[in-house]
Amino acid sequence: MSRPFYITTPIYYVNARPHLGHAYTTIVADVVRRFHAARGEDTFFLTGTDEHGDKVVQAAEKEGLDPREYVDKISGLFRDLWPRLDISPDHFVRTTDPEHVKCVEHILSAIHDAGEIYFAEYEGLYCFGCERFYQERELVDGKCPDHGTAPQVICESNYFFRMSKYQDWLKDYIQANPDFIQPERYRNEVLSFLKEPLEDLCISRPKKRLTWGITLPFDPDYVTYVWFDALVNYVSALGYPGGDRFGRYWPGVNHIVAKDILKPHGIYWPCILKAAGIEPYRQLNVHGYWNVSETKMSKSLGNVVEPLSLAEKYGVDAFRYFLLREMSFGLDSSFSEEALVARINADLANDLGNLFSRVLTMVQKYLEGVTPAADPRLAGEPGWSLAGPAAEAAAAYNQGMEEFAFHKALMGVWEFIGKMNKYVVSSAPWTLAKKEEDRPRMAVVLYNLLEGLRMTAAWIWPVMPGTALAMFERLGLPPGDAARGAGTWGSLSPGTKVSDPGALFPRVEYKAGEEAAAPKALDPPVKEEIGMEDFARVDLRVGTVLAAEKVKKAKKLLALTVDLGEAAPRTVVAGIALSYTPEDMVGRQVVVVANLKPAKLMGVMSQGMALAAVSGGGLCLAGFDGPVAPGTPLK
Ligand code: ME8
Ligand code: MG
Repeated sequence: MSRPFYITTPIYYVNARPHLGHAYTTIVADVVRRFHAARGEDTFFLTGTDEHGDKVVQAAEKEGLDPREYVDKISGLFRDLWPRLDISPDHFVRTTDPEHVKCVEHILSAIHDAGEIYFAEYEGLYCFGCERFYQERELVDGKCPDHGTAPQVICESNYFFRMSKYQDWLKDYIQANPDFIQPERYRNEVLSFLKEPLEDLCISRPKKRLTWGITLPFDPDYVTYVWFDALVNYVSALGYPGGDRFGRYWPGVNHIVAKDILKPHGIYWPCILKAAGIEPYRQLNVHGYWNVSETKMSKSLGNVVEPLSLAEKYGVDAFRYFLLREMSFGLDSSFSEEALVARINADLANDLGNLFSRVLTMVQKYLEGVTPAADPRLAGEPGWSLAGPAAEAAAAYNQGMEEFAFHKALMGVWEFIGKMNKYVVSSAPWTLAKKEEDRPRMAVVLYNLLEGLRMTAAWIWPVMPGTALAMFERLGLPPGDAARGAGTWGSLSPGTKVSDPGALFPRVEYKAGEEAAAPKALDPPVKEEIGMEDFARVDLRVGTVLAAEKVKKAKKLLALTVDLGEAAPRTVVAGIALSYTPEDMVGRQVVVVANLKPAKLMGVMSQGMALAAVSGGGLCLAGFDGPVAPGTPLK
């Protein structure tokens, strides 16, 4: 184990359901954590929910729930969503957790005792959406830049944190630590903000206005300002002040946020830490917005994209890949489903998926499925080696991942995939296979391609864990090794048995507002005439259904376990769930297209297809007059 690595997301407000913006930040955190874990680092990944404050009370009222019930409900939506996007945080913090409340009280008392908090009357412009006071110069046309609403003038007595005192320290600290806030544009933004005098931070709200919060330990008539409460989550979740985790992971932390909350993270938080005598965090990483038709996607604007339905429609891995490949971390990006589909077809189905199945198919065809040894005398010859391109890809990938330039990291890997595709064509293993004397050369080519695919799988594991595991499995390698980094060129051992490549990413079609990938059985029939030899290419066989179950979240799909007289039964996904129940299917015999390329339907790999007729809006399965031995071919 090398140095500890701690990564956080913002804790999200529970005033609305999770959307694509939240999913993006949390996927980024998961990817970064996996990248560091694959290097053998001791990692800790934190996310959670921000549950106090005006906004939450208002949202609860709207739903007719009391705040406690309401926050439990929405926090649960966030917590349950993450595993479904293959995101695995180590801890989910809630600002209503008793440990968190205690930690906030502790820090407030410490800062208060140090004389850094005072009581005063204040009149200011307050945005209820942001839950903070604004200075005139921060407004756009007199309105909050985030919510587009005019802030209200509020006059009340409150507690203030002497933040102004830390202005010079913070400026110097940021100047002395160029990586403290990145990318640079946001560092500059904070520095330019610090050119103006910093005001003290109001850290309380009178209970006569708001009771849903953490009571100030030194005045029972006030609750803690929600931002002071929320920022503390990053240390309360580590058990600060006494916890072991705090000693282990702080200050080696990377915070990830979008630019909407740059100021609290770039200014308030370092000042609070300094005043509390805690070392500053290591790095703040700031990304831009996902926009939908040019405007920020946000719950207040009502233009949100639902992450789970997209992941279910197109696959979690494809969804994760798209988000990381499409956005340059730090800049805004536009989301569209067409762009997602275009990337799936081009980068995943075509570039990677086809290469993978092509290579594995050749290994099966020419080498009986066994990874060959590469003759070292031939392997190093110019034009026949892939070691150089692999090293370039590794460098681009590692640098991109370290710098949060995920799109560059992935571009580096896809450049390598492009080179492998060209290499297949230029080295033409199918020609080399024809002559005995060329076979050692063919072995070199196929070894290099398998090794390139192994490294590719390990590189993409942080972004597409499921795909990486599937690739390792089919390369005949322990799937868990996909999570241990790519290692060095040539680590792949000869003698490994590869298996059927399957389709890693079936091509998808974009149809606005439709359910994803309709099962092949529902496609219209092909009308042109074919010869006997064409028909003979279709391997139709009798299958006996041993078990059947509904495919999760897919109204029309049943997953059938079918005996085709082979060593092991196959899974065949059929679009018949509106016409047949799982009980109807067990014991039934069906006609299966046995040599159909495997395809993933709603997350389930289908190895074949069951034939049925579309009849009267429903489906009618083809069958037999009497029992037939499973595996019998149809002619
Ligand atoms: O601000 N594009 O919570 P929040 C990209 N509770 N990312 C987006 C996004 C978009 N359109 N919309 C939201 C809060 N996000 C506070 C945080 S932390 C101590 C307290 C993501 O629910 C992005 O990470 O408004 C952004 O910073 C965060 O959600 C804001 O979440
Ligand atoms: Mg927000």
